[in-house]
Amino acid sequence: MILILLGAPGAGKGTQAEKLVEEYGLQHLSTGDLLRSAVSDNTELGRLAKRYMDQGQLVPDDVILGIIRGYLKEHAGEGVLFDGFPRTVVQAEGLDGILNGVEARTISLVVDDQRVIERLSARRSCRACGRVYNPALGINPASPDRCACGGEIYQRDDDKAETIAKRLSVYHAQTEPVVEYYRSRNLLVEVDGAGSPDEVFNRIRKVLT
Ligand code: AP5
Repeated sequence: MILILLGAPGAGKGTQAEKLVEEYGLQHLSTGDLLRSAVSDNTELGRLAKRYMDQGQLVPDDVILGIIRGYLKEHAGEGVLFDGFPRTVVQAEGLDGILNGVEARTISLVVDDQRVIERLSARRSCRACGRVYNPALGINPASPDRCACGGEIYQRDDDKAETIAKRLSVYHAQTEPVVEYYRSRNLLVEVDGAGSPDEVFNRIRKVLT
């Protein structure tokens, strides 16, 4: 299965991806995680990506499509969950070319902007393992200063108020057309992203059965 998880920043893609990967045995490709790891390793890709990510802008399509091509070559024949990709119509068309007739199932998590702002402003993450904490919203409420893995808990640079606003406006301008792209091909199912993570996951499960 090729599954695409769309949704605004903070819609809960990463949270649901973790559950989906466990239940359906998919490879999890989060372009955001991959770019953050390149930033933290200070690679050439990371230095380029940081310039865009810190401003809430999208990394150029050709860079992202290069990453996807390389990943799918490495994981040929395996089920993949795309989290945070495609984010532009150019990326969606590029993916169609790469998949060459293999149809992807597409789920869009629907969450309003106000809820997104609440979630992202309160999110904290582990620098080492990426685990997400959000005690204000009851997600891993026993958030310590250090993660269970020993890593430092921090706030992502792009979770500051002004960058959240920019990311949301980029989402509405550049990624909502991707939702339409899949809707017009009857490949899209929208799932309400409000409620607890388990409630949202149960809705996704129903769609996938
Ligand atoms: P990326 O890391 O993909 O960020 P994003 O799409 O903005 O998504 P987030 O990780 O912020 O949110 P999420 O939907 O995964 O929500 P989460 O589950 O964490 O991308 C970062 C940047 O990289 C981009 O801005 C761009 O620059 C670049 N980039 C990445 N991909 C790219 C691409 N394809 N093309 C170009 N550039 C790209 O949840 C959020 C919070 O809410 C958490 O605290 C969580 O605990 C909480 N939460 C989740 N679900 C619930 C719930 N049901 N109830 C209450 N709280 C919840």
